[in-house]
Amino acid sequence: MKILVVGGGGREHAICWKLSKSPSVKKIYAAPGNAGIGTIAECVDLAIDDLAGLADCVEKNKIDLTVVGPELPLTLGIVDEFESRGLKIFGPSKEAALIEGSKAFAKEFMQKHHIPTASFRIFSEHFEALDFIKSASYPLVLKADGLAAGKGAVICKNVEEAGETVEKIMVQKVFGAAGLKLVVEEFMEGEEVTVMAFTDGKNIVPMVPSQDHKQIYEGDKGPNTGGMGAYAPANIITARLLKTVCEEILEPTVRGLASENRTYKGVLYCGLMVTGRGVKVLEYNCRFGDPETQVVLPLLETDLAEVFNNIADGYLNIDEIDWSEKSAVTVVLASEGYPGEYETNKAIEGLDSVKADTELVFHAGTRFEKGRFLTGGGRVLNATAFGEGIKAAITNVYQLVGKINFDGMYYRQDIGWRAQNRIGLY
Ligand code: AMP
Ligand code: GLY
Repeated sequence: MKILVVGGGGREHAICWKLSKSPSVKKIYAAPGNAGIGTIAECVDLAIDDLAGLADCVEKNKIDLTVVGPELPLTLGIVDEFESRGLKIFGPSKEAALIEGSKAFAKEFMQKHHIPTASFRIFSEHFEALDFIKSASYPLVLKADGLAAGKGAVICKNVEEAGETVEKIMVQKVFGAAGLKLVVEEFMEGEEVTVMAFTDGKNIVPMVPSQDHKQIYEGDKGPNTGGMGAYAPANIITARLLKTVCEEILEPTVRGLASENRTYKGVLYCGLMVTGRGVKVLEYNCRFGDPETQVVLPLLETDLAEVFNNIADGYLNIDEIDWSEKSAVTVVLASEGYPGEYETNKAIEGLDSVKADTELVFHAGTRFEKGRFLTGGGRVLNATAFGEGIKAAITNVYQLVGKINFDGMYYRQDIGWRAQNRIGLY
């Protein structure tokens, strides 16, 4: 098989790496890819939203299967475009990708299909939203309806903050058309966790639960980022809880999508809040999570290319997917200043000393120039390691981090802290 992976971050590097282990994969292409991906795949200089260009590339190179990393092409309808041209692709249709593309749609969908989530109201007129927030209880969560690069949700402590947020989203339109509608949501107290699942639109196979670390500083302090690290399995989701998540969330979601004729062949990502009153959905994503994928796929023991291919054909064999018993941790190595301003073009040292297969370094923002890797983004690398249990995996990953260096390298030293605190509680 020849496979095209759309995207160019750490998540796509992890997907390409896993595909490169598959005996049935002859060649991997990535669009646009990155410098790390370039060591195992041919990078083609096409933008992720150039749907026609991507389809042309697949036809020209006789690529058998396309796998989509980011949400943008999915919400733009890349799956529909490819299938109308007879090209095989792994991902949800445009109508199904709305579960990520529109938070208002996702909330109404959950309500309709009795899927547990925070209570909410949807507003299209800013003065109605302003009126509502006056009598609401706080904290209150305000969200722009559309895609906002993970920045569209604001937790407001009081009516003044909520008023300013309504103004920014609906009047100033800081997120553009994403702010035409506003979702106002009850604040949920609890711990966040990610459960992703493979689905062919009928069957589901949950992946190992994982946990992201969104804030920039230790102890989950400071502004949100695209994710500073992750680990799997997330031990807050016990086997019993995972069964409940399947029965109350994953299965009704896939059944609900099918009942509305929204074809979903891909990865369903559920961002969950484990509250004192059960597990509830914070958000859906219509794709693999980043950086969760960088710990989940390395634990997959099944041939990923076969799984993608079978799902794209509409048939997921639920007995065929196996997971390692180990734990995995990934630590994001970022440029000093991120998520604000930062410098790039710093030489990266130590990549040669990484041990093949027990230590993995996925590239997120790098460039390759004159024989060496340079930093090229805010999040630069994802250092990933394994262990028998979370404690060993944490020790191993920080040993790996210690081998790598670039000027201004910043990383969180506490990735996996919640899991480590929980050891011994069960
Ligand atoms: P979202 O884009 O909907 O996932 O929201 C981004 C982040 O905001 C989540 O990862 C949570 O940390 C937080 N958040 C969103 N909705 C809520 C809520 N209803 N209660 C508490 N925190 C929330
Ligand atoms: N880790 C959060 C996301 O992928 O959206």
